[in-house]
Amino acid sequence: MAQLKSGTKSPIQPASRVAGSTMDVWSIINAAAATTPNQPVVNMGQGFFGYNPPQFLIDAAKSAVERLDCNQYAPPKGRPRLREAISNAYSPFWGRKLCPETEITITTGANEGFLSCCMAFLQEGDEVLLLEPFFDQYISNIEMAGAKVVSVPLQPPKSGMTKTHSAGDWTLDIAAFRNAITPRTRMLVLNTPHNPLGKIFTTKELKLIADVCVQNNILIISDEVYDRLFYVPFTRIATLSPEVEKITLTLSSAGKNFYATGWRVGWVMGPAELVQYVTKAHARICYCSPSPLQEAFAIGFEQAEENGFWNECVSDMKGKMNLFNDIWRELDMPYSEPEGGYFVVVNMSKVTLPENYPFPPHVQERPRDFKLAWFLIQELGVAAIPPSEFYSPANQHIGEQWMRFAVCKPDSVLEAAKERLRGLKAYIS
Ligand SMILES: Cc1ncc(COP(=O)(O)O)c(C=O)c1O
Repeated sequence: MAQLKSGTKSPIQPASRVAGSTMDVWSIINAAAATTPNQPVVNMGQGFFGYNPPQFLIDAAKSAVERLDCNQYAPPKGRPRLREAISNAYSPFWGRKLCPETEITITTGANEGFLSCCMAFLQEGDEVLLLEPFFDQYISNIEMAGAKVVSVPLQPPKSGMTKTHSAGDWTLDIAAFRNAITPRTRMLVLNTPHNPLGKIFTTKELKLIADVCVQNNILIISDEVYDRLFYVPFTRIATLSPEVEKITLTLSSAGKNFYATGWRVGWVMGPAELVQYVTKAHARICYCSPSPLQEAFAIGFEQAEENGFWNECVSDMKGKMNLFNDIWRELDMPYSEPEGGYFVVVNMSKVTLPENYPFPPHVQERPRDFKLAWFLIQELGVAAIPPSEFYSPANQHIGEQWMRFAVCKPDSVLEAAKERLRGLKAYIS
């Protein structure tokens, strides 16, 4: 049979929703990190853990894959044991028993949970409010459902270019938020603890946001995948009042909770009337999520509290933050002190890039933070993420002086990164 030669153009055209040709930040940074002669690169870019899940979770997964009932399809809304374990783990925050049958549905990571929410509630022409910077994967999920993104930027701290601030000092202009609402606004996506800023929205901020959503019948999707990593008090927006709970779906990630992002298990919880439609969409997208890993996470949730795992998560990650951020204090570079999560954003306006540095065209055409990221990889061998990718084109200038580092790495990696980042001294004015 005749073979299609590699490089030959296929006669079959892709759908426009996947045909876009611009390289996203992950392909640019991962490719640069893989090809730089400055190997091995210390990779603080993508937010994957540099260490294994806790042993009790690994043991649970090993025993689950031996079990006949775990190796076949799970129910679309998830294995009953996991829904019950999540209900037991989260009911205390809600102050009432969350119904494992109707108020929780298991998804293939929070990402697919979000796609299911979009497919369940968005129609062609609807508008979705995002607060910038935002987790970039939201965009394609919203657009796949036919809706349009409308974004409102969080304002950086006024002296963020010269002084270290709390990540909480990135603030929402509530009047701008209100002004962004149109008759087509259907959904708000909130993210707290926030990626990339490390901000935790205060109860006061959440109340202001929630009031606007209640008044305008806007569905709140609260992405709380970093909910076990908070260094200041953390409020879940759904728990503010019965009115807010009625319009809120909370998105979570067992993968993030237990350092196992590759296991692809997350969940959506909220009122039964809303969750039923998320389950319907999820069943169409992938039918169900990995069954043995759901069982393992069920055991994980059952044992986490008694193993002291949740407290350990906070103290370990906070320790990593302190260890790594010493370098910015040493270099006298301002950063946003994270209130939660495992990312830190650092202001790089003091770094002067050499004139006529040979950036490749696909980097040259991007905002300054892409050039900084490229430079860090090539010259210092450290990979980080340029946050302008997490903005709409009109607001990319807000992000282009910052760089995002993921600290969910072994301490030895953080120390190696710090040693290399000392090389920045030569470029700081
Ligand atoms: C804010 C946010 N939401 C969702 C996700 C995706 O979570 P999951 O791995 O469970 O799909 C991520 C992953 O980086 C994230 O940062």
